[in-house]
Amino acid sequence: MIKVWDYLKEYKELRTEILDAVDQVFKNGVLIFGPKLEEFENKFSKYNDCKYGIGVGNCTDAITIALKACGVGRGDEVITTSNTAVPTVTAIVNTGATVKFVDIDKYSLMDVTKLSGAISQKTKAIVPVHLFGQMCDMKAIMKIAEEKNLKVIEDCAQSHGATYNGKKAGSIGNIGCYSFYPTKIFGAYGDGGFITTNNEQLFDKMRRIRFLGMEKKKMSSGHWNGKYYAVEHGMNSRLDEVHAAILLKKLPYLDKWIARRREIANRYNEELKDLDLELPLEHPNNKHAYYIYVVGHKNRDKIMSDLAKQDIHLNISYPWPIHIMDAYKHFVCSDTCLKKTEVVCSYTCLKKTEEQAKKIFSLPMYPTLEDAEQETVIKELKKLI
Ligand SMILES: Cc1ncc(COP(=O)(O)O)c(C=O)c1O
Repeated sequence: MIKVWDYLKEYKELRTEILDAVDQVFKNGVLIFGPKLEEFENKFSKYNDCKYGIGVGNCTDAITIALKACGVGRGDEVITTSNTAVPTVTAIVNTGATVKFVDIDKYSLMDVTKLSGAISQKTKAIVPVHLFGQMCDMKAIMKIAEEKNLKVIEDCAQSHGATYNGKKAGSIGNIGCYSFYPTKIFGAYGDGGFITTNNEQLFDKMRRIRFLGMEKKKMSSGHWNGKYYAVEHGMNSRLDEVHAAILLKKLPYLDKWIARRREIANRYNEELKDLDLELPLEHPNNKHAYYIYVVGHKNRDKIMSDLAKQDIHLNISYPWPIHIMDAYKHFVCSDTCLKKTEVVCSYTCLKKTEEQAKKIFSLPMYPTLEDAEQETVIKELKKLI
């Protein structure tokens, strides 16, 4: 069987290191907010060329915390793309803000030419999603954000190690948010998330929000007490010692794993280029980290079911854009959006997003995918298309 994603081979290779890391934590006697988290926060923020890093429970929380720290709340609007994973939008809605969607470009990323048209008086922030492992056009986004005084929160859940003009994902906007969900480029063995910033004030505020809004307070005795006093409404979102320790063991391999992903992508690019199949495009300014390798074909459902019969299992990320989902279909894309006036909107404003959702699917992509396995995928695809 060839899976679309698999961690078991990685675990086989790293088992001793990982079990040793877990054992060390259990023996240390500190399970939450201990030395492993501190070390990981230092090392992973450095890896991302950022001054400050905060471990949190997951990336959904990371984006929520980031937006809250930027003062986003009820009555505000946040702009993002609709071809993202649901949690990008969950996080925005968690703050009380509403969402505005812009369409995507040929790289499946935020179409920056549509961005200004979606900005209103209420817009507070932009959440560019570096989807599939490739970064958005951050130069254009930052220019518009600076002109309009908007905050930029980079959703880097799928783009660990990716670069734009040599700059790491999460190091260009005001804040970067990462997921360590196990399937990700850099995954934990459970949930986890991370926030980076170069702004000390945002860092202090986000650290406070992560842990129930609590801060040290002077007691009547004159002593400072770091416990049990909330200075603002926060959340409870922590990256525990076990996961920080496992991630510390995995971090030295990350660049090697990304290089392997790029090698697999190059092979797909080369072998599939003459088929009637849309292949992913890498922007010349980008280093794509290939979280997933996404292709497009009008008969994708048939292709996927035929390959499943050969025990080759593919995936769709994502079959439905967010703006058609029951939970979020009330959000519009601009003040002139047809959805405002029509019961059933033609969604012409998010045309490319909708077109893509109907035809995309992803091929097996992970560092431990063997050459022979990739060869089988390629051979079977060639037979089918
Ligand atoms: C683009 C994107 N944003 C945010 C998230 C949320 O990550 P987490 O599962 O760590 O909350 C994910 C994960 O699925 C994602 O792919």
